[in-house]
Amino acid sequence: MSTFTFNQIFLITGGARGLGKGFASAIVQRGGKVIIVDILKEVGEATEKELNEAHPGQCLFYEGDVTDEPLMKNIWENSEKKLDGKISVLVNNAGVYNAVDWRKTMNINLISVMQMSYIALEKMNIRNGGSGGTIINVASAAGLAYANFHELIPYSVSKSAVVSFTKSLACSNVLENYGVKVAALCPTISDTQIIKECTIAEQMIKDLNIVPLTVEKVANDFIRVLEDMYNENAKNGEIMFVCSKSKYVDVNKFNLHELILPESE
Ligand SMILES: NC(=O)c1ccc[n+]([C@@H]2O[C@H](COP(=O)([O-])OP(=O)(O)OC[C@H]3O[C@@H](n4cnc5c(N)ncnc54)[C@H](O)[C@@H]3O)[C@@H](O)[C@H]2O)c1
Repeated sequence: MSTFTFNQIFLITGGARGLGKGFASAIVQRGGKVIIVDILKEVGEATEKELNEAHPGQCLFYEGDVTDEPLMKNIWENSEKKLDGKISVLVNNAGVYNAVDWRKTMNINLISVMQMSYIALEKMNIRNGGSGGTIINVASAAGLAYANFHELIPYSVSKSAVVSFTKSLACSNVLENYGVKVAALCPTISDTQIIKECTIAEQMIKDLNIVPLTVEKVANDFIRVLEDMYNENAKNGEIMFVCSKSKYVDVNKFNLHELILPESE
């Protein structure tokens, strides 16, 4: 059994505000260094300043769109040079709720998560000169259920696929060989800007008297997942439903290997 040490370099996509900023703040408070990548230049710069004022030299902000693969590779390499160390934790957090442009939703919420993860796997791979590491994907409670509103379909499908991607990575033989661990967080409605873009969430908050989770609550569970993966309270590929009583959930309904055996037909 090992314990998780925060004295590492983390890269958080979409960390300028909201949950990503909360994760960044929790990390620097524990002595870690954080690279934030976000399309919001001014907000990102302000977050970098705020975190560095409290914890000098621990935060580095890069403006960038996660869909831009060459740029993400450049940022990865430049920031490692600048901080003189390897990035050992990737947090795929950038996400959008866009009910109109479903392709944009898929590109940011799913394709970029896979793209960033493959960059991370290449860089972290212990068989390739890397030092191993951890990938945390921020999915959503909407990724644990079917969408019951038409408008919700792209978001829900993108987040379900992130859950599936996380599980699949853990079930494949890739991670053990690479020295990489992976998990996903599925928060329920939380108090951030993205909710303002989702009329369904706003309506549910009103109609059902829902109190959104605070950023601090989600950040505490993010820390818990990291620690659990190393103290063996959580398995590789674990999916946490983040709510008032957060818990790991089993989304592994079928095992493909068993399904394709003739006797299962
Ligand atoms: N708030 C909730 O209720 C909730 C619930 C479940 C899951 N989530 C997920 O949590 C994650 C964080 O969202 P949040 O709630 O903090 O909302 P948010 O809108 O405050 O944060 C999202 C961040 O992602 C950044 N971003 C968006 N597109 C980007 C791109 N192409 N490249 C780089 N950065 C980009 C935004 O600029 C923003 O800083 C998202 O993946 C979201 O889907 C949120």
